[in-house]
Amino acid sequence: MFSTNIIRVTSRSSTSKIGPLCRCSSSTATSRSWSVTRYHADLKHSLQLINRPTVPTIYRPSEVLVRVHAASINPLDLSMSRGYGQVLLSLMNVVSSTGIDRITYDRLPLTLGRDFVGEVLTTGQTVTNFKPGQMVWGTVSPFADGGSHADHIVVDESSIWRAPVGVSSVDAASLPYVGLTAWSALVNFGQLTPQTVATKRCLVLGGGGGVGAAAVQLLKHWNAHVVVTCSARSAQWLQSLVAVDKVVDYRQLAEYLQECHQESFDLILDASPPEASSANLQLISSWRQKQLSSRQQPMQKSFPVYLTLTSPLLRNLDSKGIFGGSMATAFQALTDTASGLLDRTSVRWAYYMPNQKALKCLTELVEAGDIKPQTGHVMPFDQALDAYTVADQQVKSVDGKVVLKML
Ligand SMILES: NC(=O)c1ccc[n+]([C@@H]2O[C@H](COP(=O)([O-])OP(=O)(O)OC[C@H]3O[C@@H](n4cnc5c(N)ncnc54)[C@H](OP(=O)(O)O)[C@@H]3O)[C@@H](O)[C@H]2O)c1
Repeated sequence: MFSTNIIRVTSRSSTSKIGPLCRCSSSTATSRSWSVTRYHADLKHSLQLINRPTVPTIYRPSEVLVRVHAASINPLDLSMSRGYGQVLLSLMNVVSSTGIDRITYDRLPLTLGRDFVGEVLTTGQTVTNFKPGQMVWGTVSPFADGGSHADHIVVDESSIWRAPVGVSSVDAASLPYVGLTAWSALVNFGQLTPQTVATKRCLVLGGGGGVGAAAVQLLKHWNAHVVVTCSARSAQWLQSLVAVDKVVDYRQLAEYLQECHQESFDLILDASPPEASSANLQLISSWRQKQLSSRQQPMQKSFPVYLTLTSPLLRNLDSKGIFGGSMATAFQALTDTASGLLDRTSVRWAYYMPNQKALKCLTELVEAGDIKPQTGHVMPFDQALDAYTVADQQVKSVDGKVVLKML
């Protein structure tokens, strides 16, 4: 077990004068957060439980203060504790900041957590859709000041929606970030629409993970034909969420593609970890070349779309700086596009995008039972270090997502 070090800080997010911007009852409560105090490979050295003397305050009239009840742990939280994305995310944070007192490149202490379920405590003056006391769920951009692994969070009203009714906070908390990433990949980058997807054949690589399982559920709800790769262990769990057309062990992807060289897919979503994605792209590329050289294969009208969630941009900027990293990423984009053209495949890098309409849709799908939450393991907020360690395991010991319970 880890020891829990609590440090007290007065952060920039607790010093603002809120004045007449919000409809609120002023609170004297303290607020705890799990924050990165220095980037380090070992979570014990990077994460601290920080105790702030006041709750965060609203800066903009469109913001909402939420008392977090539950929040999930995503791979991005673990990567960010090790410094991933610090160059671009700090820059984006500066660009999106208002007020000279908030402009800083120093993001530490950096609160982790990309999604949450909680109760609205206070609303800014222009907020119309939400009221104090209402349960909401939502996401927090990676370049935002605060994350959701905290007692309280301030977010823009455009990033939340009412929480699904009939589902517990800890269950619902597993979905917003992975659900919106899956939505963004399929709809924004893959250009699928619920109306057109029923005729599509899709291959999801890494369907046993958070984003993959959300994507598979969306695709099946929209009546697509879906083939999934995942580990044999995750297959059972995935099939308890949704009936897929075929499950392939991801260690046998090469053999599967060999067997099905005459099959076609309209969309391939790679939702596997970065260490697997370049090997996956190579396998898909060889499979396409084999298809193209085969005279029996009828030519698809449009190129299949290959979407990967592993863009090299943040990693390149971290390691090579803004100029070198941008150049290296542009070069990689050109290389991926060129080799995709040779394989007659449209290779695209997809990423999470906030989307209130999609969140509203997810709320309705969860309430109707068409998308099932993916919570696998719930741990109390003060045991977050143990929870991060469980989520960080190379070979997962739990199916589904790890969720922190604050209340
Ligand atoms: N760009 C963005 O905005 C964005 C947003 C969200 C996520 N991501 C990235 O997308 C990836 C997936 O995210 P997530 O939240 O779904 O992560 P996750 O829950 O950890 O899922 C990853 C899954 O990949 C599976 N996997 C491991 N090796 C594989 C292989 N060789 N082939 C296929 N699958 C393999 C694992 O399956 P088993 O458990 O069955 O072994 C695991 O469940 C991560 O790399 C994450 O960083 C990017």
